[in-house]
Amino acid sequence: MTSEWIDLGTVADLEARGGLTGEVDGRPVTVTRIDGRLYAFEDCCTHDGESLAGGEIEGTEVVCPRHGARFCLDTGEALTPPAYEPIRVFGVREDGGRVLVAAP
Ligand code: FES
Repeated sequence: MTSEWIDLGTVADLEARGGLTGEVDGRPVTVTRIDGRLYAFEDCCTHDGESLAGGEIEGTEVVCPRHGARFCLDTGEALTPPAYEPIRVFGVREDGGRVLVAAP
């Protein structure tokens, strides 16, 4: 059950920048929109800590820009080496023009 929603910014900024970044539960988080749906995920590759905010989005996967590991944005699962541990994914919603991410 969600105990708190963290406001990461406006929907307008998300659309203008192609994403939003912030901090949730002490972790860096990125929000992006794919085919109309919002995804919020930990902005830190589990292989060696690279930011995933600048990674290519292919379907519902993000590709780490440093060594190419892929993560599923639905589950956080690491899909290809050199990453083996999942990233965290978060609930996310829009409310009144704001982007809110669920803090566990
Ligand atoms: S830091 Fe992401 S694959 Fe190496």
